[in-house]
Amino acid sequence: MKTVLITGATGYIGRRLTNLLLDDGKYEVRLLVRNRKKVQLSIMDRVDIREGDTFDKDLLFRSLQGVDTAFYLIHSMGSTKDYQDLDRLSAENFRESCIAAGVRRIIYLGGLGVKEDASKHLLSRIETGEILSDKPQQIQTIWLRAGVIIGSGSASFEIIRNLSQKLPLMITPRWVRTLTQPIGILDVLSYLQGSIELDHKENLMVDIGTEPLSFQQMMQQAAEVMGLKRLLIPVPVLSPRLSSYWLILFTPIPYRLASALVEGLKSETVLQNDNAATFYREISPMSFKQTVAHAMQEMEQNQVISRWCDSSGGEACDITDFDNPAGAILRDVRIEEYGEGIAQSDVFRAACRIGGSNGWFRYNFLWQIRGFFDKISGGYGLNRGRRLNRELRVGDALDFWKVVDLKEGKRLLLYAQMKVPGQAWLEFDVQPDQLVQTAHFIPRGLLGRLYWYSVWPLHNFVFADMARTIVAKARDLS
Ligand SMILES: NC(=O)c1ccc[n+]([C@@H]2O[C@H](COP(=O)([O-])OP(=O)(O)OC[C@H]3O[C@@H](n4cnc5c(N)ncnc54)[C@H](OP(=O)(O)O)[C@@H]3O)[C@@H](O)[C@H]2O)c1
Repeated sequence: MKTVLITGATGYIGRRLTNLLLDDGKYEVRLLVRNRKKVQLSIMDRVDIREGDTFDKDLLFRSLQGVDTAFYLIHSMGSTKDYQDLDRLSAENFRESCIAAGVRRIIYLGGLGVKEDASKHLLSRIETGEILSDKPQQIQTIWLRAGVIIGSGSASFEIIRNLSQKLPLMITPRWVRTLTQPIGILDVLSYLQGSIELDHKENLMVDIGTEPLSFQQMMQQAAEVMGLKRLLIPVPVLSPRLSSYWLILFTPIPYRLASALVEGLKSETVLQNDNAATFYREISPMSFKQTVAHAMQEMEQNQVISRWCDSSGGEACDITDFDNPAGAILRDVRIEEYGEGIAQSDVFRAACRIGGSNGWFRYNFLWQIRGFFDKISGGYGLNRGRRLNRELRVGDALDFWKVVDLKEGKRLLLYAQMKVPGQAWLEFDVQPDQLVQTAHFIPRGLLGRLYWYSVWPLHNFVFADMARTIVAKARDLS
């Protein structure tokens, strides 16, 4: 059986591709991940996990030995450092390690568009493709290029869905009328999977997409699929900055992603070759409306496998080393006894249902206010919500928290990704007869301490109510 290595396996595309290849059953699947705890428990024993990143060449070489095909599904866009440099280095390391390890083929998914008009992010994606394809005599690269990807949990879909659902009337700037060619996530996965056995010996660049549409047309068509009537009034201005603020206010995505999207849509991103139709005859991409209907269905059926906010995007994994708040010097501890008749597992289940559309109980409005201030100061706010209402896994975003540890029936640990002068955690330790709920805080300097003591009176309401309500909810579940 051939071995296939997937990088970016904890990201939006990589998670779905991993599941698809495992279901397919034709390949040994090896994952290169930065934090093995992020791999979903249900597949742990079906994959060979190698922990590390593309900046470690030795590890890359070892991970790639015996691999036939290697997927490159990585980017560094969320990094605080210059992400173009990181992307270049990562791609070079990967190509060289693949050559050294004797890998037959690299499959890379990049962005659609041409270099001349490319945004900074797209340029970095193009450079990555060029680097990976740079030594065709030594290794073959299939370079797929996609524009807007529509699927449950994808950033573009979340923007379109939120704007269409929340705003009956919109004034739309010029970039909203730029043409692009979206594609549904199922088709993206089919092209990626089909690339493993593609009968072609040279490098190949394959542009993938469905019918050309502007963002405005996508919003109109999405509204139709959702049974909504929306009025879009075009204005001849570009206003990328204003648009980005608009997007962060009404959609879950942060400023960095909103501005990259708006920047990317300043110029057309349409297919530059017909290699998809020529080489992948068996795939006929779904229409945009079909992809929206499918994404909505996955959401309604609680089948969202991955989201845009699963990954860290930066030069390091965002949750590694945050699963132990032992260094915290300020704590708010609430102990809630639960008597006979309530199972420990139900207390744990109730704790795991906090946040998102399930809300934060009686003082939800205080969380909403906190979320609003977080959002306007550049954080995630509350509207990332959660992937599924009844299930959590390590790495899941939960409003402005991230799940950093999950011990079934025992412990849920959340790390704060909100803007806060220090580091904060929220821990639920479910013991046989009591729930111990602790907010841990490591303040940054004087400001951190001032912050903690200024919100302390609110903690008295919010945290006491939270522990009590979780136990009450557990009683309903028992
Ligand atoms: N999603 C889209 O809408 C879209 C559209 C067009 C093209 N694409 C392309 O598809 C590819 C995958 O995108 P995506 O949306 O799936 O990205 P994503 O959700 O942001 O995931 C990125 C993945 O890369 C991992 N990673 C980042 N830097 C790494 C490094 N140096 N070493 C090892 N792993 C690293 C992350 O790990 P952690 O979990 O540890 O952070 C995560 O698993 C990218 O090339 C992107 O340009 C995506």
